[in-house]
Amino acid sequence: MSPNLIPPDRDRLGRADRPLTIRADGVEVAGVHGQTLATVLLAAGRTHWRTARNGGGRGVFCGIGVCFDCVATVNGVPDVRLCRRPARDGDTVTSQSRAGGSER
Ligand code: FES
Repeated sequence: MSPNLIPPDRDRLGRADRPLTIRADGVEVAGVHGQTLATVLLAAGRTHWRTARNGGGRGVFCGIGVCFDCVATVNGVPDVRLCRRPARDGDTVTSQSRAGGSER
């Protein structure tokens, strides 16, 4: 999966993307309507947003909603699969961690 967006002026299909902004761990990230939250983060160069029990970073693995590797807290709701959740303007994403035996 490419982390790069096609700038509107170079899009051969002439799509007029509608921009949106989410906040991920306190940082504003730009995306476009139609992207999932995972693709907004990947396009911004973020490859993981969850820490597993062994301390390893987790992000998108299957990309189709099966593995739950991509979960994060969205607008205060924990364990949301970012690969399945369409991005909406103003969404807030917070990383989760189970490192060291913690629940989140
Ligand atoms: S990447 Fe597997 S459920 Fe999201």
